[in-house]
Amino acid sequence: MDTDAANFAGEWLALREPADHVARSTSLADEIAARLAGRDELRIVDLGAGTGSMLRWLSPRLPSPQRWLLIDRDPALLERARPVPAGGEADPAVPAVETRRADLSELAGACFEGADLVTASAWFDLVSRPWIERLAVQLRRYRVAGLFALTVDGRRWFEDPDGRPIDEADDRHATELFNRHQRRAKGLGEALGPDAAELLPALLRSAGFEVRVERSDWQLAAGAPGTVELGTALLEDWARAAAEVPGSEASRIGRWREHRTRALRQGRVGLGVGHVDVLALPGDS
Ligand SMILES: C[S@@+](CC[C@H](N)C(=O)[O-])C[C@H]1O[C@@H](n2cnc3c(N)ncnc32)[C@H](O)[C@@H]1O
Repeated sequence: MDTDAANFAGEWLALREPADHVARSTSLADEIAARLAGRDELRIVDLGAGTGSMLRWLSPRLPSPQRWLLIDRDPALLERARPVPAGGEADPAVPAVETRRADLSELAGACFEGADLVTASAWFDLVSRPWIERLAVQLRRYRVAGLFALTVDGRRWFEDPDGRPIDEADDRHATELFNRHQRRAKGLGEALGPDAAELLPALLRSAGFEVRVERSDWQLAAGAPGTVELGTALLEDWARAAAEVPGSEASRIGRWREHRTRALRQGRVGLGVGHVDVLALPGDS
């Protein structure tokens, strides 16, 4: 993963997908599913779709038939996008999927006309405040609902095998550096990083949407299957980003990373990453 250039390796997206799927808010998905029930064919536009994680998680929870448009600037990721096979291609429950390669920096590559729902996941930390304001204008114009999952909120924590928080100075230091790194521009304006978690619902509310927010944290318990693999990759990216912040001490970050990776591998710590999911309803959906 290279978060600075906003390039994301397919392997990283595949590694995080199970944790993402557990974390996403089912209550917000159920709410939008109920609101969209009874429409002929749902049209869903997924922004920054990557390999289609949102499609795989959300499509079985929405009424059928569905038609998805997956937009991303990386064709190699879109190439890997597949819906969940739910009984073969002829099954009407398998959504129709179209992919579009487009740079979303100006939102110009996305058209919401005729859409029932716009989605994005693990996306809003990359964008700027003006970008969200433009999105809100477009959603209002076409009276489309939005379901925006897994926006990081800046919380990261370690915990012992009983789930009790471990709070060490080096953990707080590494989190603070990571969040500073997240606020660097990533091709979509001055990136909001963790500030997006509060700003996204606030801006959507000011634009007249009815907004609901739910937590969708990653909870990687000590010793649980998948914790070591995902946690080690996360620590690697976290330490790399922290070391890139001007003035940071590479040796302190290196020692912290080794200490935490060892504890993770030995099943002595688990870790968590804070996210929010946001549902925005135009009021008449
Ligand atoms: C963290 S990944 C999330 C992917 C997917 N939504 C998921 O939940 O697995 C962010 C995605 O945004 C895409 N991206 C970054 N900058 C972009 C841009 N300017 N235009 C379009 N896509 C972009 C990346 O290629 C990547 O697929």
